[in-house]
Amino acid sequence: MPAYERTDRYSTVAIWLHWTIALLVLVNIAVGLLHDPIPALRGWMAGHKAIGITVLVLTLGRIIWRITHPAPPLPADVPAAEKGLGHATHFAFYALLLAMPVTGWMMVSGSAKPGGLTWFGLFDIPYLSVSKATSGFGHAAHGVLGWLMLALVVLHVAGALRHHLILRNNVLARMAPAVRR
Ligand code: HEM
Ligand code: HEM
Repeated sequence: MPAYERTDRYSTVAIWLHWTIALLVLVNIAVGLLHDPIPALRGWMAGHKAIGITVLVLTLGRIIWRITHPAPPLPADVPAAEKGLGHATHFAFYALLLAMPVTGWMMVSGSAKPGGLTWFGLFDIPYLSVSKATSGFGHAAHGVLGWLMLALVVLHVAGALRHHLILRNNVLARMAPAVRR
């Protein structure tokens, strides 16, 4: 008997991790992209960093959960090419959910100052030991990957809404805490 049951829905833990991480990532993309044009958002950058480290920790937990709890099967009539696109998007998301925080962390570690990186002021987050070049690479990668992530979110949401509103199958419902189909 496996430690989990295969049903037509994601597990409660997977659902809550998905939506918590999604919300944190959307806030971080918005604050990251808008803190330059909107000076009022600059004070939010300490929160951006703390949220990013939180996403890193939650994602590590989420990946372990995902490996030990397979996704529920997709509806049988989803074409193989669409299944492939979905899986590729999800895989790219997991890579970005790790790469965005790590490159941000690398970037700020290039100009480390005592007490400069904290988790919402509650405790210090250590800086990484990186060279100037590595920190510069982190900065460049963080900017490019941020736009890539935004593009993936648009594709992902369009896919989810297409399943729910046009194909009218259970793909969104299986990841939603409340929606049933
Ligand atoms: C979920 C994780 C994260 C996401 C989605 C995210 C997203 C972004 C985005 C989209 C930008 C704007 C990039 C640009 O146009 O240059 C940005 C900027 C920035 N991020 Fe993040 N970030 C994350 C985590 C982090 C972490 C963990 C740190 C540091 C510990 C960090 C530090 C920064 C800094 C300092 C900037 C400003 C860079 C500049 O103004 O040149 N980020 N972030
Ligand atoms: C930054 C935001 C988001 C990220 C990073 C994200 C990431 C992910 C990832 C990695 C998966 C794969 C789960 C697995 O391992 O099987 C997934 C599944 C899913 N997401 Fe998102 N998501 C985001 C936002 C959204 C939004 C806004 C919606 C709804 C409009 C949504 C709907 C879904 C659905 C329906 C699934 C299940 C798809 C399937 O089983 O093939 N996601 N998401």
